[in-house]
Amino acid sequence: MTSPSVFSTLAMPGVERLPIYEPGKPISEAARELGFPSGDVMVKLASNENALGPSPLAEEAMLAAAREMHRYPDGGAFHLRNALAEKFGVGPDMILLGNGSNELIELIGQVWLAPGRSMVISDSSFIVYRLVAAKLGATVLSVPMKNLTHDPDAMLAAIRPDTSLVFFANPNNPTGTMVDADTLDRFMEGVPDTAIVCFDEAYIELLEPAAQPDMIKHVRSGRPAIVLRTFSKAYGLAGLRIGYAIAAPEAVALLNRVRQPFNVNAMAQAAAIAALKDEAHVNRTRAVVRAGADYLMRELDRIGVPFVPSPANFMLVEVGDGKRVFDALMRHGVIARPVGGPYGLDRYLRVTIGTQEENEKFIAALHAVVNGGKEA
Ligand SMILES: Cc1ncc(COP(=O)(O)O)c(C=O)c1O
Repeated sequence: MTSPSVFSTLAMPGVERLPIYEPGKPISEAARELGFPSGDVMVKLASNENALGPSPLAEEAMLAAAREMHRYPDGGAFHLRNALAEKFGVGPDMILLGNGSNELIELIGQVWLAPGRSMVISDSSFIVYRLVAAKLGATVLSVPMKNLTHDPDAMLAAIRPDTSLVFFANPNNPTGTMVDADTLDRFMEGVPDTAIVCFDEAYIELLEPAAQPDMIKHVRSGRPAIVLRTFSKAYGLAGLRIGYAIAAPEAVALLNRVRQPFNVNAMAQAAAIAALKDEAHVNRTRAVVRAGADYLMRELDRIGVPFVPSPANFMLVEVGDGKRVFDALMRHGVIARPVGGPYGLDRYLRVTIGTQEENEKFIAALHAVVNGGKEA
């Protein structure tokens, strides 16, 4: 019989010590843990998903694709890459699809990180950057933020000769803050040609088009930049796992060498092509998010809970003891996201902007938890 310890003794050095990503709790599991009769009574505002769900066009495309699921996907994602290339005015050889942008972050790490190299990020930025660096044995150079916002000058100053990557989430998760286009352009002027900047724009389509900083121009002009986008947020396809990178053909060719041949499934490709055609759904999503954000900010003011305004579909609320309030909200049937631990934001909770009904339930629960329901 095999001794169970062989799994550990043969594991690659360091694997046992790797940190684990903790996803937001699924509704069914949270309901079961709390003894709620069904998931229906709970609202999940923990993972920055789209309150409206997918576009009806994407749903139709998924149903049609279901009949073709005995076929392997197109490993080169020909049609989707062409659609994205046309949308952004770049060549199809500048587009790479991923199993969510999470996979792209990992692939980027596999190509450009290694022991002896470093990555620059902000203290309270998306945790997956740290996880990838840890897995690949690279050094993380973590830069303090200013007012919970990236500090581009400090990030520039942190870049060392061994720095191969800078990850810049804009808007940033979990703080929900954003750096404007002019500042980013100046930042790019200062980035040495020895480092690659990844602008992670997971939430960018939630801003009005005119307010979206154009970082793709840096890719087009040959600067060392990669832009990451996802279908998980504004397009409401988080469950399908599909995102994309826009980068120089040379960078895409390198990334193609480390990915699985069929990393993006056929249903996701079909849904994404349809979703791109449904601008109206993105516009509706944007309107629901903005109206929800306005409602939440008004109500948070009313109940006396400070918050960090955000152009994305989530915001930080300052509750004092994030973990305690998270647990208490769960008992009221609301799943938010604690952002202490590696994010270092113990005083805050992150809440996704949901439907009006979900937002109302969140406010009522928060009011009951922090004020015992009394007016502030
Ligand atoms: C900043 C940021 N980047 C990337 C992702 C990953 O998105 P996905 O893997 O679903 O495309 C998220 C998800 O929450 C995010 O907040």
